[in-house]
Amino acid sequence: MSKLEEIWMTVSIGILVIFMVIVGYQTYALGMGPPSHKETIDPQEVEQTAPFDNPGLIDLGDNQYELVMTLEAFAFNPGNVEVPVGAEVEFTMTSKDVSHGIQIPGTNVNAMVLPGHIQKITQTFDEPGEYLVVCNEYCGVGHQAMFTTITVK
Ligand code: CUA
Repeated sequence: MSKLEEIWMTVSIGILVIFMVIVGYQTYALGMGPPSHKETIDPQEVEQTAPFDNPGLIDLGDNQYELVMTLEAFAFNPGNVEVPVGAEVEFTMTSKDVSHGIQIPGTNVNAMVLPGHIQKITQTFDEPGEYLVVCNEYCGVGHQAMFTTITVK
């Protein structure tokens, strides 16, 4: 093996090892690994499983809210939610039937909501107005009618 090949191999293996050490450090020391099976739910038992047995807006104080929401063909429950200006809303969502999506144009909220999984997104609503909330995942004949609003005032 030539000297150059040896150097090349050493450098590439070294880079791989460094990356593996960094990823391992982030996962195990900093707890930055993806969650596994912490956010699952039996899709047949959504209505009997907390917090989805009681969907709604929960006031956490300090203008922070948790919005526990279920999605089903073809509705968001609860719909037509109202929050004050500046509210930080943590969405906690799951689907009761098929794969849905949630998108709120003008915000960063854009995610899939799948049966069997709990989806969480946090969004702060600094601008007053009526925000359209749409399903952006084709979910059946009523897909285009699956929308609601969040009013910020
Ligand atoms: Cu729900 Cu499309």
